[in-house]
Amino acid sequence: MALVAPGTGAIFAVMSEALAYRPATAFRMTTGSEATTAVLAGTIAKLARIGDVIALSGGIGAGKTVFARGFVRALSQADEEVPSPTFTLVQAYDCARGPVHHYDFYRIDSAKDAYETGIEESFAEAITVIEWPDRIAVLRSEHWLDIEFSMDARNPETRELVLHAGPAWRDRLTDPALLRSGLAPAPASDD
Ligand SMILES: Nc1ncnc2c1ncn2[C@@H]1O[C@H](COP(=O)(O)OP(=O)(O)OP(=O)(O)O)[C@@H](O)[C@H]1O
Ligand SMILES: [Mg+2]
Repeated sequence: MALVAPGTGAIFAVMSEALAYRPATAFRMTTGSEATTAVLAGTIAKLARIGDVIALSGGIGAGKTVFARGFVRALSQADEEVPSPTFTLVQAYDCARGPVHHYDFYRIDSAKDAYETGIEESFAEAITVIEWPDRIAVLRSEHWLDIEFSMDARNPETRELVLHAGPAWRDRLTDPALLRSGLAPAPASDD
């Protein structure tokens, strides 16, 4: 099932269509703790602009909400409450760099539901963070930053992160603060 959103030509579908565009440039990082993931998220947040989309993929418990919480807190307050939007589908924050809209599409089951969350407005007016982005297939713009989280069964505190950056993110990901934190260009095989 697919839905063409009026006005923009954005195409939404649920679990049925291949992604039309995948940002190509890859970076990777291993984080050894929840705190390190949150610090990385905060560093990326400080590089984000209205119109950016940060898409967080990975299994249950992979660290997507930990990342989103670190991201929002870096732009608001360290004690900002950032609940998982698993049931509300979206949580909105009024942050220093503009609105941040945090979505979780795990429970979405129709293209119409995805459209009715207001995601299209978020793409235009906010910094958008999405958990389970592949539950909706949506055209990636140049402003997308895809981050895939993998867990390591032998090291429960370790997460492998692979980042695919759209053109609008590529220069920002070579920011010295990010490189100091351990983010590195990925070998071609990860791309
Ligand atoms: N390096 C790490 N980075 C992030 N979280 C970690 C790390 N090591 C352990 N954890 C733990 O993994 C869990 C991640 O939970 P989180 O809610 O962020 O997962 P999620 O990907 O959002 O899952 P869901 O798909 O259910 O929303 C937390 O309990 C956190 O403490
Ligand atoms: Mg989550």
